[in-house]
Amino acid sequence: MQVKPIGIIHTPYREARGTPIQTPAGKGVRGWVEVFDEFVPGLKDLCGFERIWLLYWFHRAARGKLNLHVTPFLDKKTHGLFATRAPLRPNLIGISAVRLLSIRRNRLGISDIDILNGTPLLDIKPYIPQFDCFQVSRCGWVRDSSPIAVLADERFAQTMPRTQKCTSGSKTKSTQTFRKGDRTR
Ligand SMILES: C[S@@+](CC[C@H](N)C(=O)[O-])C[C@H]1O[C@@H](n2cnc3c(N)ncnc32)[C@H](O)[C@@H]1O
Repeated sequence: MQVKPIGIIHTPYREARGTPIQTPAGKGVRGWVEVFDEFVPGLKDLCGFERIWLLYWFHRAARGKLNLHVTPFLDKKTHGLFATRAPLRPNLIGISAVRLLSIRRNRLGISDIDILNGTPLLDIKPYIPQFDCFQVSRCGWVRDSSPIAVLADERFAQTMPRTQKCTSGSKTKSTQTFRKGDRTR
């Protein structure tokens, strides 16, 4: 099985600490998606959608042993990994329904972001309420009242080495954050 990035997600978030835990906490925060040239024809008609799903690779997830019981950001108790959205997973796949603001050639303006800068993009899909929005009567351990946290800490992430800190989202700089040796299992 092969997975290859189709682009790079550029955001204001350089470190896990302080990054929104989910997109509602990043409401209004803007970033952009750079789609690699060979995939640009596939963006036709996407502009009609207000929200899009981004699927991406948690390239800055912590290295080391995978825990199948984790304490997620939103609780003080441990839960099975698959009952959480923790970034450190067997396959480091993240999913966020962001707001689509604009499309100019290979550049998608987005807002409502919970993603680190330089994150490799794996796929884009339209958010379609008829398919993606359900009224449910159970939501497991997740409280429906105010969450205990809205911004992440560094428990699941690597910090960026000082020498590779970057200050803008240009292609050259952002791709430096996808380093040789990053976890790809
Ligand atoms: C709890 S996850 C939820 C992400 C997504 N909405 C999901 O449910 O798959 C969001 C957190 O993942 C971390 N994160 C975001 N992008 C990352 C990346 N490229 N590598 C590692 N951690 C990342 C940040 O700490 C962020 O606050």
